[in-house]
Amino acid sequence: MLSLCITVVGTKSVADQSVEEIIKSRKAIFSKNYSTAKRVQALSSNGDFDKAKELMIEMSGNYKTLLGLFPENTQEGFKTESLPIIWLEKDSFNSLMQKSSDNMIKLTSLIEDSDDIRATLREFMWSSCKACHSKYRMPH
Ligand code: HEC
Repeated sequence: MLSLCITVVGTKSVADQSVEEIIKSRKAIFSKNYSTAKRVQALSSNGDFDKAKELMIEMSGNYKTLLGLFPENTQEGFKTESLPIIWLEKDSFNSLMQKSSDNMIKLTSLIEDSDDIRATLREFMWSSCKACHSKYRMPH
């Protein structure tokens, strides 16, 4: 029964989702990306690049999903930490999201040959979070 519910929600288009569902799902994806990023860091530091790359690709895909989870009617409520400026500068916001996604793919080809794993992860993964949060997410 539970899996049936999940299937139904999973196949709903964004247009059919309630404001609450959209805000909750974008929060859940950001939280997931945070834990995935920490795993990418740990795996890369241990030299487990194959698994790290799989997770990089997953994060890249999550950013693309997030592009569709900021419709006009989801600017407030349900504890959203998104700032109104997102919708005033939707193109800049979207290009930052797209760039964050693209950088995760670049990372898959750079990480193994990197002389400084931490610096490479900072440049291509962690800096994206800060660049966006400092402008588009409420202080938390
Ligand atoms: C292009 C913009 C953008 C990028 C890139 C981005 N975030 Fe965020 N993040 C947001 C916004 C906007 C919110 C607020 C979402 C809401 O509450 O509606 C958020 C919320 C979060 C949250 C809170 C989720 C919750 O449950 O309320 C976490 C954790 C988070 N981000 C982690 C990260 C990490 C880690 C990265 C980088 C690996 C990252 N984000 C990259 C824009 C971004």
